[in-house]
Amino acid sequence: MGFCSRVCKILRRSKYVILLVLVLSVLAWIAIFSRETVKSVLLSSAIKQTLTKGESLRDKLNSRTSAPNRLNTPPQKAECPQESPLLQGPVKLSFESSLKLTDVESDNKDVTEGEYEPSDCTARQSVAILIPHRNRERHLLYLLHHLHPFLQRQQLHYAVYVIQQAGDATFNRAKLLNVGYLEALKDYNWECFIFHDVDLVPENDHNLYLCDKQPKHLVVGRNATGYKLRYKGYFGGVTALTKDHFFQVNGFSNAYWGWGGEDDDLRIRVELQKMKIVRPPADVARYTMVFHKRDSGNEINKDRMRLLGRTPQVWKKDGLNSCSYKTLSVERKPLYVNVTVDIGKPQK
Ligand SMILES: *[C@@H]1O[C@H](CO)[C@@H](O)[C@H](O)[C@H]1NC(C)=O
Ligand SMILES: *[C@@H]1O[C@H](CO)[C@@H](O)[C@H](O)[C@H]1NC(C)=O
Repeated sequence: MGFCSRVCKILRRSKYVILLVLVLSVLAWIAIFSRETVKSVLLSSAIKQTLTKGESLRDKLNSRTSAPNRLNTPPQKAECPQESPLLQGPVKLSFESSLKLTDVESDNKDVTEGEYEPSDCTARQSVAILIPHRNRERHLLYLLHHLHPFLQRQQLHYAVYVIQQAGDATFNRAKLLNVGYLEALKDYNWECFIFHDVDLVPENDHNLYLCDKQPKHLVVGRNATGYKLRYKGYFGGVTALTKDHFFQVNGFSNAYWGWGGEDDDLRIRVELQKMKIVRPPADVARYTMVFHKRDSGNEINKDRMRLLGRTPQVWKKDGLNSCSYKTLSVERKPLYVNVTVDIGKPQK
């Protein structure tokens, strides 16, 4: 056997190994390359999506102002100042029995279909005020009379929604507020929601109807309780949550029929999400509670303690995502949007 034949034999034997190595490395290259391509394709489509989202949001905002605010043209209106120069502090409230809705309408000519925005600056937040309602026309009138000028002094872009429960089944404040949230978002992408009882009138316009980084409770005191917090952890009356906070806690429970409990339930939801309730100073967060008798259809909810006990187990499936209702009418009045709904009745 000559030298060549030996070498040739080795080469001939190992040629399969060489071939295999070659094929494997080609495969490896293809794999790496295609992964990079997939990655970059995914990335660019994600960026494209965010861009179009941002654009459509901007377009939406622009459509609200008269001049289009394109990227390279400066905004027409400056943002409203951190503190509105129009604030008055404590205001004297009046509850005249002669007050009429037409009076309040002519006092608030700049409000259309319940909505207002400052003409000379861009509001810092867009806020939806949700008021659950049934058979409290007088209270609603007093509230509108004070609330509209109050919100305008705060230089807010806002709209007032009255959520009217149809029929005479037991009242369900919390479910009406869930409906209000869902319905108001059909009109506009509100970033902040104020959940507002009809019988509480704010006394000091430094109590800002704006959302904070944490859920805010605005009623520290009311004349009916000597201006003291009703109890530690009280989270009722008037609260401010961002659109995202409220979504994160799945809104209110729909299960509280009659008076009481639903506000404590919301506090539990907020605490389960490790959010912290904040309050304005006590001298600012003051309300006058307009007197009324508890009417039939809003009796104390005797089941509330049992319901509160199961909140940690049920909050994920009892709330915004399970709120079934039928909208009977949406009437756009000068000072508020009246959403009338059939929310059913308690299950026995
Ligand atoms: C709080 O003020 C309102 C309006 O003046 C009044 O109707 C109500 O009776 C007062 N409540 C208490 C407990 O003083
Ligand atoms: C809301 O609309 C309903 C249905 O038309 C009506 O019965 C109710 O009185 C209205 N409520 C208010 C506060 O305007």
